[in-house]
Amino acid sequence: MQKFVITGGKRLNGEIELQGCKNSALPIMAAAVLVNGKCILESCPNLTDVYSASRILNSIGCKCSIAGNTAEIDSVSVSGNAISEKLMGEMRSSIMFVGAILGRVGQCTFSIPGGCELGPRPIDMHLAAFAKLGAEISENGGEITCRMPKEKRHGGKISLPFPSVGATENIILCSVLAEGETVVNNAAREPEICDMCRFLRSCGAKIKGDGESRIVIEGVERLHGCEYRIMPDRIAGATYLAMTAAAGGAMILKNACICEMEPFLSVLEQSGCYICTADNRIYLRRGGRLRAVRDRIRTMPHPGFPTDAQAVLMAALAAADGTSVFEENIFDCRYRHTDALIKMGADIQVMGKAAVVRGVKKLHGADVEATDLRGGAAMAVAALGAEGRTTIGCISHIGRGYEKFEENITSLGGRISRE
Ligand code: EPZ
Repeated sequence: MQKFVITGGKRLNGEIELQGCKNSALPIMAAAVLVNGKCILESCPNLTDVYSASRILNSIGCKCSIAGNTAEIDSVSVSGNAISEKLMGEMRSSIMFVGAILGRVGQCTFSIPGGCELGPRPIDMHLAAFAKLGAEISENGGEITCRMPKEKRHGGKISLPFPSVGATENIILCSVLAEGETVVNNAAREPEICDMCRFLRSCGAKIKGDGESRIVIEGVERLHGCEYRIMPDRIAGATYLAMTAAAGGAMILKNACICEMEPFLSVLEQSGCYICTADNRIYLRRGGRLRAVRDRIRTMPHPGFPTDAQAVLMAALAAADGTSVFEENIFDCRYRHTDALIKMGADIQVMGKAAVVRGVKKLHGADVEATDLRGGAAMAVAALGAEGRTTIGCISHIGRGYEKFEENITSLGGRISRE
């Protein structure tokens, strides 16, 4: 098993180009199942999860190929209506293909999806929504089958008990080709959902209200192919900015989505970083020491502070002046990175949803293991600001979400290698 070796204590300087967004590439790849034609996706990040999505597509008769950052998906002859347990287990986003296959083929057999272990990640809202849209659901030895014959497929009104990103996306995928109107109340408002809707509209779908809490989908008969550029990845962007905040220095993030990153940027500013934005670039400079963030950092559905950026910000604030308090409101188990940060000298106390981070003077290197995607990235953030050598094991977690991770860190002047 490979490890990252990071030698910290060196300021970061330079510029990097932000990758395409994982969390919109995956639902967009699922959405391509609905299209009776060929789609070309630009800025598709090279990530293990994207390759898993490609395998799911090919397993159901779509033709997906990826060359560089371009994915070509031809879904003219979708033939399959099942996703294997192995493919379902590779990532959480495998569940998005269920809504798309149901929408296109009318039946899907699948098992519980995999993904980062962040506490229980049920799919009850997804299944309840499918049922509301006309699906009959049965279970046999862990295998779930949803049947939605054409005559039973219809729109509907769905009010989500919580604005779940995945459930919102699945409802849209399942209803774009259904007859009639579907309304989603208390929908999630994440930018990645808007990106998927923009893609679907480019293919002829009729969707209104994405980015707001009430989304209306008017079913259309068929979708046509298109060329589409995937939005930049706001969480990867937050991670690289957090690295410079932790290590000190100055960087420019190119191809950034500034509005979508606003909730993160405003907290970084409170910690004493100088931030300036223009066009699609973010300049960040950290001169003196970082300051603790005075207000409680509460993770919330968008436009609140993103749960996916909680760990990387915590890693930077672990060596700030003063005490910062985090409150994780989305997932039950999203503080698994704190043990590694504590091993590196951080003073963090987790109490249920809250984590109290008392800034220390400096972190030091240690041998740690990535616990999940963002937790692993947080360890790299901490390592770049720490004194000495850190090794990070289980780096396959990081490869699920970050393209050119080492190259980007190296181009900022960070010292990272693989062992
Ligand atoms: C998406 O996951 C993202 N993944 C996650 O990013 C992100 O952390 C999360 O949204 C929240 O922003 C992708 O887009 C691929 P949810 P998702 O459904 O859709 C509960 C990363 O690091 N829930 O909004 O799975 C659930 O347990 C990843 O890139 C139910 O109870 O998130 C959680 O507590 C990790 N029943 C909350 O809702 C359901 O049926 C929010 O989950 C569905 C969800």
